[in-house]
Amino acid sequence: MNNVEKAMEKLKKYNQDSVLKVMAKFTEEEKEKISNQILEMNFENLKNLFDTLSKEEINAGKKIEPISALKKNKLEPEKLEEINKKGENIVTSGKFAVATMSGGQGTRLGYSKPKGTFKIEVSPKPKYLFEIVCDTLKRANEKYGVIIPWYIMTSEENNDEIIKFFKENNYFDYPKKDVMFFKQGQMPLIDENGKLLIGENKLIKEASDGNGGIFKSMEINGCLEDMEKRGIKWVFIGSIDNVLLKMVDTTLIGLAEERKVDIATKSVLKNGPKERVGVICKKDGKVGVIEYSEIRPKMAEAVDEDGDLIYGESHIMCNLFSVNILKKLAKVVLPYHKAFKKNNYLDENANLIKPEEPNSYKFETFIFDSFNYVDDIAILRGKREEDFAPVKNKEGADSPETAIKLYNDYWKNNKE
Ligand code: UTP
Repeated sequence: MNNVEKAMEKLKKYNQDSVLKVMAKFTEEEKEKISNQILEMNFENLKNLFDTLSKEEINAGKKIEPISALKKNKLEPEKLEEINKKGENIVTSGKFAVATMSGGQGTRLGYSKPKGTFKIEVSPKPKYLFEIVCDTLKRANEKYGVIIPWYIMTSEENNDEIIKFFKENNYFDYPKKDVMFFKQGQMPLIDENGKLLIGENKLIKEASDGNGGIFKSMEINGCLEDMEKRGIKWVFIGSIDNVLLKMVDTTLIGLAEERKVDIATKSVLKNGPKERVGVICKKDGKVGVIEYSEIRPKMAEAVDEDGDLIYGESHIMCNLFSVNILKKLAKVVLPYHKAFKKNNYLDENANLIKPEEPNSYKFETFIFDSFNYVDDIAILRGKREEDFAPVKNKEGADSPETAIKLYNDYWKNNKE
């Protein structure tokens, strides 16, 4: 059997007749291409995901309890200094690296290029989001006398554009040998009946597999091996779209060392019961994050004796992982979260259809689900005005406008 025949067999076995029908309209070369893609895919996994679509949400039935974070200002000054020193030792001895997740689509921002290439009008001069992250790293390098290795996760969709952007901007003067790009994985989309879609490029339509894909792709692309060669012990993994993200936080690193945990995270207090962020909590006794859509209003509104929200530790994509746990997480299959979205496709006559309504499921894993695979994690509560200014939406909350204000206010009052 040749590859086309093998692929057709596989499609028949999994009842993907619509793909077979569209394929019949393709040239031999097109058939060969899509067949190679089909042969690489894990249809069993996809079938299992489809079978679970109608089941309840991932957290349904789990016992949810609040969790407390360490507040920096509640620490004795000597203790804080000791923790900071531990963190500083890790950084100055070259055992620390940073990874930036920039494989997202940034749909809410409505910007068609990779989000990191978005220019934001901060003072005194406008900067690209990638440039802001790079500047943070350069300041830390200067302060600690090191060069922090920088791993940048891209996607199949935006990888070439991101690399081109870095070249055009001379890597914002970061040492090129210490910047490594790696692509995240993809997952096929399926429609409401579990059928695969074919895209305009005459291939099965796939999309990025979510920021939880970082662990596996770090391994597949040799990042974990590179980290080991460099003697890295801790890796900070952060998002591209928080213009106040503190990637090199010696308190967070020192706290992880002190507590002897493999994961540490920095939270900020939710700005009100209705803010649309996930909160860190305990799920069936293990640390996890519950999304805003899953938390009942009564829970969301409950406060403690300080008047702080009990379920208020927002997860802000500010996470630290030991290389040891990254190696373990690379082998784990994180749960998939589904999102029903609009996606163009070719119909059975190979005509392009642009649906008006959502028509297909996208499957993503989330980085915070990794918390469930360790016994405990350290949580440090940061401050919103110092740590969290996300660029998510085109306007309103968490938009360029709000991020610019937070960034400018921070830099007016602080010198690092
Ligand atoms: P978000 O979940 O906010 O997604 O990503 P997004 O793509 O930026 O924006 P929307 O939801 O489409 O509007 C949080 C971080 O995770 C990264 C993003 O690049 C961002 O840094 N991410 C997200 C990935 O690297 N890969 C993904 O598949 C998804």
